[in-house]
Amino acid sequence: MAKITIDGKPMEVADGTNVLEACLSNSVHLEHFCYHPYLPVAGNCRTCMVEIEGPKGPMLTIGCNTKVAEGMVIHTDTPKAKTAQKSALEMLLLDHPLDCPVCDKAGECKLQNQYMEYGLYDFRRGVPRYFKGGKAEDIGEHVMLDQERCVLCTRCIRFVDEIPKSSELGIVSRGHESKITIFPDVRLDNAYSGNVTDICPVGALTLKEFRFKQRVWFLKKAESVCHGCARGCNITVEHNRGRIYRFMPRENAELNKTWICDEGRFSFNYFQENRLEEVRLGHATSNLSDGIAQLANLLKDLSPDDVAGIASPTGALEDLYVMKKLFEKRFRLKNLAAPFWGKPGDEDKILKLADKTPNTQGLNLLGFDTEGKDLLSRIEKGEFKVVLIAHNNPFGQDEERAKKVFAKVKALIVLSVHKTKTVEAGSMAFPVRTFIEKNGTFVNATSRLQRFRQAVEPENPDIVEASLWMVRLAKALGATGFDFEDSPSVFNAMAKEVGALQGLTFNKIPATGKVLDLKPLAAEPFPGVKAQPNVSGKAKV
Ligand code: SF4
Ligand code: SF4
Ligand code: FES
Repeated sequence: MAKITIDGKPMEVADGTNVLEACLSNSVHLEHFCYHPYLPVAGNCRTCMVEIEGPKGPMLTIGCNTKVAEGMVIHTDTPKAKTAQKSALEMLLLDHPLDCPVCDKAGECKLQNQYMEYGLYDFRRGVPRYFKGGKAEDIGEHVMLDQERCVLCTRCIRFVDEIPKSSELGIVSRGHESKITIFPDVRLDNAYSGNVTDICPVGALTLKEFRFKQRVWFLKKAESVCHGCARGCNITVEHNRGRIYRFMPRENAELNKTWICDEGRFSFNYFQENRLEEVRLGHATSNLSDGIAQLANLLKDLSPDDVAGIASPTGALEDLYVMKKLFEKRFRLKNLAAPFWGKPGDEDKILKLADKTPNTQGLNLLGFDTEGKDLLSRIEKGEFKVVLIAHNNPFGQDEERAKKVFAKVKALIVLSVHKTKTVEAGSMAFPVRTFIEKNGTFVNATSRLQRFRQAVEPENPDIVEASLWMVRLAKALGATGFDFEDSPSVFNAMAKEVGALQGLTFNKIPATGKVLDLKPLAAEPFPGVKAQPNVSGKAKV
């Protein structure tokens, strides 16, 4: 640790920390554009100017490229430092178009924010503004470039060089003519391209899928976890009036840093389209109370051995726990399994994993049979009268096999988010909530228990969490021990029973998750890449 002084306050920071990080991690506000906690330092925007005392008196220097040293005395707020910061900002704004009213970055733009904080000066340029040209250039499947808004911070270049290592972007020309561009005959189409729009501090790089859709100040944000694969990258679900407009990465220094893949980023529409909106009993639509009553009536005359259950790694831990409890108490636990019909997807050496479900480790934690070979062959032999399928879609993923397996079942009861082929094949179908519409937890492939918060409420009150649907069925069947009101109360009860969750409550799960004592299914991403000292979770990126 090094003992230093910032603006007269003594403090200790880790050796190797740079002056900007030392300020940010000690709540000293120092602006910056080109610095990013998970990219190499470039030191080109000069907005992080500070004065550091030396043998020849205080010297102006940039904070992001100066490492702290024992006894260092740093000033961020002297007249000289403030003038330097303000001048760097004025320089960046010289040729910047006044696009704020029509720019998608407005409301979360570092340049706009800094001008409001440090600028507010009269425009002093005596000659016409230099136009870099290039408005709304289509440079990739998802990304548009508005060249004249670019402040040449090179964050986007460093990102494509360092993370996907695809290097599509570079700077051409010299001096005030310098501009960012893609190489000839190259498109910005790597699998992580959307991240450049998050880290671009201005509105130069924007997402086609978000442009002109919504002003950012109208968006509400819910802390969540990507559902796209077993990595479980941290995200925020951003929504307004019940509609999801984007998934954004949420910083987790130990997991996804501040990155997510495009597949996960653009998966939000999947949860808003083709939804199963009503209870179906045969070919008729119904409501939840009547549906549960009819199902309970059917089940009450059957033996507990007549019912099989099929769960899924796409269900939340709470859904799986209550389903398991229902089978323990009312049917037979040996007749419950979670075979998933989906095929492995593509994976890479960055974040993406081949397992495209979010909670395989949740199944392992709760001791589910994830292959279910024995159960499927018993269903196929006609041993069961009723099969209850939750969050799984066997007919959509391997229809021929599913037809064979379920041919002899009298009643197929389906809990589903979407209108699927399994719903069509079902005798009764009940709509359930997506992870966006409920609170819950998943365990990712590196055994990190992670919490997601509800973003939106479905319009139809009959669309409930699968866990609470099971609670209603259990109560209708007269089973006891199902006094759960919501997912957090289910989690809290589960944590008392499951060894690896001991001592946790839903609200005590850290925002970046907790690694459980459970053999991981995959290695941590970014081996060897460490969070910048003292900055993670605090720096504005
Ligand atoms: S496009 Fe954005 S991220 Fe890239 S250099 Fe310009 S301002 Fe920086
Ligand atoms: S790597 Fe997986 S969890 Fe992460 S954003 Fe992509 S799909 Fe989502
Ligand atoms: S020079 Fe330090 S943040 Fe840009």
